[in-house]
Amino acid sequence: MKITGTGSAMPSLAVTNDMLSEFLDTNDEWISTRTGIKERRIISDETLTSLAVDAAKKAIESAGLTPNDIDYFLCSNVVNNFVTPSLSCILQGEIGANCPSLDLNAACTGFIYALDIAESFIQTGRAENVLIVCAEEPTRMVNWKERNTCVLFGDGAGAVVVSKGDAFKAFHISTQSKIEPLYYQRKLEYNPYQSHPDGDAPLIMNGKDVFKLAVSSSVSDIRNVLEKSSLNADDIKYYLLHQANIRIIDTIRDFLKQPDDKFPHNIENYGNTSSASIPILLDEMRRAGKFTKGDMLLFSAFGAGFTTGACVLEWNM
Ligand code: UT7
Repeated sequence: MKITGTGSAMPSLAVTNDMLSEFLDTNDEWISTRTGIKERRIISDETLTSLAVDAAKKAIESAGLTPNDIDYFLCSNVVNNFVTPSLSCILQGEIGANCPSLDLNAACTGFIYALDIAESFIQTGRAENVLIVCAEEPTRMVNWKERNTCVLFGDGAGAVVVSKGDAFKAFHISTQSKIEPLYYQRKLEYNPYQSHPDGDAPLIMNGKDVFKLAVSSSVSDIRNVLEKSSLNADDIKYYLLHQANIRIIDTIRDFLKQPDDKFPHNIENYGNTSSASIPILLDEMRRAGKFTKGDMLLFSAFGAGFTTGACVLEWNM
C-alpha cells in the first residue's frame, strides 16, 4: 500500500487561549506551557460533514482520481450528530462515490487503525484505492465549564487516499481495555425494562494517567515498528505523532534520542483534533513541500480505549 493523495479542512473560527479566559478560569500562560496549544479551530457555521467532504475531495483530487475510482471508504469518527446512519454513509453520497463505506471508532488512534484495515483490503485484492477520512468534533464532547479538558481540543478533518504499492513497511496496533482514564458517556432513550439508568458524562479525563499511558505505549509501538522494518530511530526523517500535547511529543522524542526537527507539530494552531490530527499534519507538510521521495516517515497515535498504533512508510508522492 502507498499514500497517493492527502487533504484536510479546518473550521474557520480560530479561538485563542485569551478568548477562553474570557469565560473560564484559565490563561494563555497555563495552556501554552502545559500543552503547547495557542489556539484551536472550532466548528461554528460549518458542519463536520462539510469539513469531511472538503478534506475527502481534496485527497481524491491530489491522488489524480475521481470518486468513481474509490473502492472502499473508511471514516474514523468518535462523535457527530447522527448516531445512524454512519458518517461514512452520509459522506459517500455527498462525494458521489459508489462503494461500500464503514465508520470506525478507535478514538485518537483511528487513522492508524483505518490504514491497517485499508492495507488488508488492498493486500487481498478487495480494493485498489481506499479513501480514509478522519473527521472529528471533540469540542462537542467536552463540558465547556471544565477547564482541565475543554481547552485541549479542536475540530477538523484530514483525509488520505491509499492505493496499491509497497510503501508501508510495518504496522503495530493494540487495545488495552482501560475505560477510566478517558471516556465520554451518552444518555440513550429509555426502554421500559431497564433497571439501571444510563449515566451521562461529558468527556472525563485523568490527564496524568493518559499522559503516562501515551508516552509508554507510543515509545513501545515506535520501537516495535522500527524493529519489524529493520530500521533504527535515526533512519526516520519525520515522526508524525498524534497532536495531543507538545510535552508528550517532547518526552517521546527524548526517549528516542532524536532531534527536535524530526517531530513536526501544529498543535499550537489546532489543539487535539483526535484521529484527524496526523492526516491534517501530513497534508499540511505535503502541501508545504516538506517531503522528498524516499523519506521514511513514522506515524504513532494513542487514545481512549486505551488504543494505540504506529506504522512506518516510505514517502513516494
Ligand atoms: O488524545 C488523548 C487526549 N488527552 C491527552 O493527551 C491528555 C494528556 N494529559 C495532559 O496533557 C496533561 O495531563 C494536562 C495538560 C491535561 C494537564 O497537565 P498537568 O501538568 O497534568 O496538570 P494537572 O492536571 O496536574 O493540573 C495542575 C493544576 C491544577 O491545579 P492545582 O490542583 O495544582 O491547584 C489544575 O486545577 O492546573 C490546574 N488547571 C488549570 N489551570 C489553568 C487544570 N486545567 C487548567 C487550565 N487553566 N485550563
